[in-house]
Amino acid sequence: MARISASVYTSHVPAIGATIDMGKTAEPYWQPLFKGYEFSKQWMKDHTPDVIFLVYNDHATAFSLDMIPTFAIGTAAQYTPADEGWGPRPVPVVQGHPALAAHIAQSVIQQDFDLTIVNKMDVDHGLTVPLSLMCGQPPAWPCPVIPFAVNVVQYPVPSGQRCFNLGKAIAKAVKSFDEDLNVQIWGTGGMSHQLQGPRAGLINKDFDNAFLDQLIADPAAAAAIPHIDFVREAGSEGIELVMWLIARGAMSDVNEGKAAPKVAHRFYHVPASNTAVGHLILENS
Ligand code: DHB
Ligand code: FE
Repeated sequence: MARISASVYTSHVPAIGATIDMGKTAEPYWQPLFKGYEFSKQWMKDHTPDVIFLVYNDHATAFSLDMIPTFAIGTAAQYTPADEGWGPRPVPVVQGHPALAAHIAQSVIQQDFDLTIVNKMDVDHGLTVPLSLMCGQPPAWPCPVIPFAVNVVQYPVPSGQRCFNLGKAIAKAVKSFDEDLNVQIWGTGGMSHQLQGPRAGLINKDFDNAFLDQLIADPAAAAAIPHIDFVREAGSEGIELVMWLIARGAMSDVNEGKAAPKVAHRFYHVPASNTAVGHLILENS
């Protein structure tokens, strides 16, 4: 039986990827940010899973206004890092896990969530920056990854409540996979940031830290935050935080009445580019 052992949450700022790729992580501006991920890289080595189910958003890279899936699951054998305008990031090709992905698609769709099945796509900074932050610069990523893309770019976007419930369905799907796999679920994007308009540059440390507290201790309450509150309090791109609720909804305290997860690591830093960076590692008890 497959099982979810832990969830990881992290921002995905593209400038972080560029800084790693250009070897500038020790620069004074960036050094405090990367220091916050030193624990995480060691934790990842000590807790390498068999598969990562990586919830992220595509930034008009694989999808465009031509076609906007609310939830899209990658069922391919591999995914190429996208060219976002400066050439593809020099990071390994992402290996998929078609068998587990197809099983999750089957189970979650039968649990009444509409998923788009994607057999071919490139993956942008939303997916590759979290991998770089957690794994550094290996010649190959440490395990297969199932990309799960959520539309938080073009309205209407899914609510936090729906994302949380989807996480529960994903947990049930993983648990019913007939192979002994250790699976991590990652929720990425956020925290507060707004990239355009009169409020560009908005950061809300109070909201971000309250969200981290609530996500850890009372995820059902975090799931009840209306999408307009994310936008008002955390900026137009702060809505990316609904993706964290998918990962949190898949944890065993929510689904199996188990004890609250262990907070293995918590980190918050401002600024990184235009963004507040938040990061959590929660281990199932
Ligand atoms: C930035 C942050 C994002 O989440 C993103 O997708 C693009 C840019 C930024 O802070 O620059
Ligand atoms: Fe983003």
